[in-house]
Amino acid sequence: MHMPFLKRLSLFLILFSGTFLAGCSDDKASSAVESDKAVELVMGTSADMPPFEFYEASQIVGYDIDIAKAIAKEIGVKLQIRDMDFSALIPSLQSGRVQFVMASMTPTPEREKSISFSEPYLTLPLAAVTLEQDIITTQKGLSNKRVGVQLGSTHEQFARDVASRDDTVKVRSLNKLAELIQELISGRLDVLIMETKTAKSFQQVNPDLKVAALEDNTVSFAIAFPKDSKWIEKVNKALENLQVSGRLNAIRAAWFSDYKNTLSGL
Ligand code: ARG
Repeated sequence: MHMPFLKRLSLFLILFSGTFLAGCSDDKASSAVESDKAVELVMGTSADMPPFEFYEASQIVGYDIDIAKAIAKEIGVKLQIRDMDFSALIPSLQSGRVQFVMASMTPTPEREKSISFSEPYLTLPLAAVTLEQDIITTQKGLSNKRVGVQLGSTHEQFARDVASRDDTVKVRSLNKLAELIQELISGRLDVLIMETKTAKSFQQVNPDLKVAALEDNTVSFAIAFPKDSKWIEKVNKALENLQVSGRLNAIRAAWFSDYKNTLSGL
């Protein structure tokens, strides 16, 4: 069958212009690369958790943020960071408002029902933060205490779990970690549960805080995605490259002066 002339002409033009562009000068080639780079991924975080994601003046900075930037560079995309309450992160992934989350988020089987995770990029012990002289290192130590945790966190789950077995444990969940610190300092909470590194960061500005690792409580952090996101594989590959190139260790060393101990404790 013969094509009508106009159709043939336009087909020719399309093919021709394609050939023309492909064989074109560097200028055109680099603008094609640039348009690839213009892919922008929106990352959700909860910037209330030093040294992982927090505000320095009006900038969100931290260990997770540096890793996110390195990953974005590695896969050749732009990064936009959106700050929100921790409890809003998973709904934001599900509704597609953000393409991934880096917020010191711990992968759990429960969460894996609704979202997916990268390989873990860090493992840390949990801490109990108090003002009392006697530190808390065990679940039993939470008896008769008002325990503060972040809303929507695995710490909240952990504390509620302990409280379900011991009704002297009272759990209160708040949106932001700084609010929890405030409540502890003003005596309205007895103990907070959070990651050791973060507890230590708060302790630097509030030297009265006592920080102790909770025994048998190690958690890891991973990057979260909507279920079956096409970015998971690319991000895992990028993480692997950053590990091999030493970039990940450099970021670790920049944020944790004692980074060699990062895997083992405080
Ligand atoms: N690792 C804990 C969790 O996944 C707490 C994370 C809190 N993150 C934050 N940016 N405040 O639930």
